[in-house]
Order: sequence, then structure tokens, then C-alpha cells
Amino acid sequence: MIYKNVLAPLLFLLDPEVAHDGLRLLGGLLNNRIASSLTSLIYRVEDSHLETKLAGITFKNPIGLAAGFDKNAELLGLFSALGFGHLELGTVTGKAQPGNPKPRIFRLSSDRALINRMGFPSIGADAVAIRLRRLSSCLPAVPVLGINIGKSKEVDLERATEDYVYSFKILAPLAQYVAVNVSSPNTQGLRQLQEKERLAGILTALNSENHGGVPIFVKLSPDLTNAELDEVLDCCDACRVAGVIATNTSLSRGGLKTPIDQSGGLSGAPIRAKSLDFMRRIYGLVGERMALIGVGGVSSVEDVVLMLSAGASLVQVYTALVYEGPSLVARLNEGLLREMRRLGVGSPAELRGNPIDTREFSQSLDRLW
Ligand code: FNR
Repeated sequence: MIYKNVLAPLLFLLDPEVAHDGLRLLGGLLNNRIASSLTSLIYRVEDSHLETKLAGITFKNPIGLAAGFDKNAELLGLFSALGFGHLELGTVTGKAQPGNPKPRIFRLSSDRALINRMGFPSIGADAVAIRLRRLSSCLPAVPVLGINIGKSKEVDLERATEDYVYSFKILAPLAQYVAVNVSSPNTQGLRQLQEKERLAGILTALNSENHGGVPIFVKLSPDLTNAELDEVLDCCDACRVAGVIATNTSLSRGGLKTPIDQSGGLSGAPIRAKSLDFMRRIYGLVGERMALIGVGGVSSVEDVVLMLSAGASLVQVYTALVYEGPSLVARLNEGLLREMRRLGVGSPAELRGNPIDTREFSQSLDRLW
């Protein structure tokens, strides 16, 4: 309530990236055992019924932080305290780079959306690894850590595999899973890496370097056609990836109320339906063979349940956190628990791929919130 009624209106007077930088400074204060533990007393929702096992990893709950919010592992204390079941750090690039010129994030408040063309600002894989080693010794109960890696801007597409392998070798030993980002729209040509041969080249090289057996996920674009999606999934299957994260931001501008002419990827409520459709299609094609993480426009308990019922085992949030504030994770977990009780299921995994009667569901949520 305080965030939505007091803090957010003030923060929204600022340029989105200035607000984010302010949060980074404040959030950095929580990178110590005492401050992080005390904050977690406010936000953490602990219940063994929320536990989810996926790709050999146990997640305390199915709500995760999507890549892009904590690109350089600066806010581990804060995000651990907010009660996430996992944090996907990054995108981290092999070489340090500044990203695109500012301004590069735009709020579309009436659409509950953002457009960004960040272009992977990153301190680089080596520096992130140093920071992670230092932080892991001074923080309590860090959730599952995924690290999302992407291609450095100065590396051309033909040499992309080497660049991914470089980051992978440095970061995989520090991660419980690695996400291969081939779907951000803001690095020229990156999405071409979703093409079958190029993707197979990257994944095969990563597999042969994966001596620790870290689960590898591939993050996909919502702008793939059905035929392209089928091909990418075939390739992921053949390369035995652990799973898929769907979806990244979209280049589409369909149905926006805000008149805006900015290039970049759209996120938040307007991509929710597309991400859900994608998840249903992916689950229909790969079934239980792959772990699936659903992301895109998730902002309510209903969205979480629908994403799980579409086939996801975990969900992630980014844009909703900007609009709803730090209590979002606790609200989603508490609401999910109540909804699981109502539906008579004992774990989020039991919702996976099971059709839900959304009419009855929405009515029950009206009563809850
Ligand atoms: C992102 N996203 C993103 N994804 C990724 O794989 N690597 C990244 O570096 C980033 N960076 C990033 C910056 C900003 C400002 C936004 C808004 C988003 C995409 C993000 O992880 C997620 O896939 C989409 O935003 C869709 O989820 P939401 O925001 O609708 O919950």
C-alpha cells in the first residue's frame, strides 16, 4: 500500500533509469546478513507446499525474478529478502560494455508496461564472478541463483559461440542454472541465434564445457512464428537442454493505449496473453520432457495459476514489480497457497498443465483481494 500510494507516484516522477539507480543504491545497503535477514521478516512466505523441484533443483517457491533487474548481481541481499524462490541474474556479457545510450527505458503506466532498449549494460562475466564470490559468503539464505548470459556487442554473430562459452566457463560454477539469452531485441542480430544451426552450435559447445552438469535453459522471444518456435524446440530437445524460459520482451505494439514511438522490447500486461499462448504451445509440444519457466505480464495470482496451468513449473516477474512494489512476491505466494487449498492441490507441480476453470477462479480472487 505504501509503495503503490506514496513511493511509486514519487518514483514515477523520475526517469525510469534514475529511479532504478536510486533503488540500486538503497538496495545495496541490504547486502549484509543482518539487514537482509531483518527485511526478510516482513516479506518472506515460508510453506513447504510451495516447494517445486525442477531440473534437479529445489525451489522454495515458484516465483522468480526475471533477468534484467539485477544485471550485475548488485541486489542479492534485497531480492533474497523479498521472498523470491529464484533470482535470474544478468544478462551478463563476456566483455564489459555500457549498453545503449540513455534514455533507454520508458514507462507506459496506463498499459502497466515498459519499453526498454538497454542493450545489455554489463560489468562483464569476470567482474560478476568476483562480486558473487564475495557476496555469497556474507548473505543468509540466498534463493536459487540462475545466471543469464548474452553475446557481447563487439563480438560478431559468427564468433558468438566463443563468447557464450567464455561467460559460461566463468559463471556456471557459481550458478544453479544458466540461461542462454538469444532473444533480446536490443542487441543487433541476437535473435538470429535462435536459428536452428546457430543455436545448435552454441548449445553443443556449452554442453561440452558443462563438466559440472549445470542445467542449461534457453530464453525465447515471443515474436517467433509457430514454425520458428517448433524448430527452436526441436533443436533444444536434440541438444538436451534442461528447459526453456518463455518469453523475453516483444517488438509488437499491439493494443497499447499509450501513444509512444520508441524502439525496444515491450514487457508487462500487453504481452501477457502472448506469453500464455506460447507456454501452452510449448507445453503441448514438449510436455514433461523439459522444464518450463513462464514470464511475460505476470502480475496477479490469477496470472501465476494460469501460467502454471499452461505448462510452466515456475514463473518470473519483472515489470509488475515496478508497478506493484516489493510486496508483490509475498502476495503472489500467499495467494497461490490459498488458491491451491481451494483447488485441493498439494504443490504447484500439480497445477502444471491442468486446465483451470477461470470463471470460478476469478470470483474467488475477487473475494481474496
Ligand atoms: C528485461 N528483460 C531482460 N531479459 C533478459 O533475458 N536479459 C536482460 O538483460 C533483460 N533486461 C531487461 C530490462 C528491462 C528494463 C526489462 C523491462 C526487461 C526481459 C525480462 O526478463 C522479461 O522476460 C520480460 O520483461 C517479460 O516479463 P515481464 O516484465 O512482463 O514480467
